Amino acid sequence: MLYYAAPMEGLTDRVWRQAHQKFFGGPDRYYAPFLSPPENRIPVKKKMADLLPEANPGAPLIPQLLGKDGSCAAWMVRLLREMGYEEINLNFGCPAGTVTAKGKGAGMLRDPQALDEFLYAVFAEAGGPISVKTRLGVSDPAEFEAILEVYRKYPLCELILHPRVMKQLYRGQANRAAFARALPSCPMPVCYNGDLTTLAQLRELEAEHPHLHAVMLGRGLIADPALLRKARGGAPASREELAGFMEQLYHGYTQQFGSAQCAISRMKAVWYYVIRLFEGSEELEKQLKKLRQPWEYEVTADRIFAQLPLLEEPLPRL
Ligand SMILES: Cc1cc2nc3c(=O)[nH]c(=O)nc-3n(C[C@H](O)[C@H](O)[C@H](O)COP(=O)(O)O)c2cc1C
Repeated sequence: MLYYAAPMEGLTDRVWRQAHQKFFGGPDRYYAPFLSPPENRIPVKKKMADLLPEANPGAPLIPQLLGKDGSCAAWMVRLLREMGYEEINLNFGCPAGTVTAKGKGAGMLRDPQALDEFLYAVFAEAGGPISVKTRLGVSDPAEFEAILEVYRKYPLCELILHPRVMKQLYRGQANRAAFARALPSCPMPVCYNGDLTTLAQLRELEAEHPHLHAVMLGRGLIADPALLRKARGGAPASREELAGFMEQLYHGYTQQFGSAQCAISRMKAVWYYVIRLFEGSEELEKQLKKLRQPWEYEVTADRIFAQLPLLEEPLPRL
C-alpha cells in the first residue's frame, strides 16, 4: 500500500514538505495544494514558485489543478510537464463555497456532462498521466454512480476518493460504506482519503481493503507528522524532532513571507493541528490564538515544548 500526503492549501507548501521529509521521512508522494490555471494563461510567479523542482528535492511531488475550463487546464498540464512533472492531479473535491460557487472543485460534480466535457478537453490535449481527487457527489452519495461512469471513460492513472459529499464540507464522517460499495466498480487504481488520524484507524482501513492501491492522509499527518513513519514501523515523533520541525517551519515561513510577524499566522494554522499531540494544552492554545508578536510566539512555543506531556497519538478535536 502506498502512502500519500494530501494537498492542503495554506499548510502543505514547499516549506512544510521539505521540513516534513527532513524530520519524519517522506511519504511515497506529496500532493501540492491546488493551482488555478489563470484564464489569461500567464502563470502566477508566486504560485509557481511552490512547484519549482529545485525547491522540491526528495519525495515525488504531484501538482494539482482546480479549474473548469478544460482547454485552459490542458494548457497548464503541458506547462507543468515542461517543468518536469509527469502526473498531474485534477481537483473535483474542494467543497469551499468560494470555489464551488464558480463551478470548480466539488462544484464540478453538479453536472456529470460538464465534467465529461472538461475531462475530454484535458485528455485530448494533455497527453500523459492524469489522476483525479474527488468526492462522492454534491448532496447524495448515490450521485457517485453517474460520476464514476464519467471517470471510467478516461484512462485515469489513479482515483483518489474522499467519501463525503460536497454539502457535508468536513462535517460528519467519511462514508466508508459508500467507499466500499464504489471500489469494485473502479477499473483504475484507487486511493482512500478521509478521517485517518491514528495508526489504529489506518490499520483498520488497511485490513478492510488489503488490496487498495494507496491511502492519503491530510489533517492526521499535519497533527502527527510521524504518522506515516509509524505506519512503516518507525518511531513516534520525539519532542526534539517536533521542536526542530516547528522551528524549521517558523524560519522557513519567516524567510518566505519576509517577516516573523507574517510567519506567525501560518504557524498558528499548523499548531491548530499539532497542539493535539500535547496533553493539557488548553491554556497555551488560547495564548497561541491570541498572540501577535514574534517574541510572544517564541515564548509560547518554547513553553509548549518545555511544559506539556507529548502524546503518541493526537487527541481528537472536540
Ligand atoms: C485547510 C485545508 C486545505 C485543503 N486544501 C486542499 C487542496 O488544496 N486540494 C485538495 O484536493 N484538497 C484539499 N483539502 C482536502 C484534503 O486534501 C483532504 O481531502 C481532506 O482534509 C480529508 O482528508 P483528511 O481527513 O485525511 O484530512 C484541504 C483540506 C483542508 C482542511
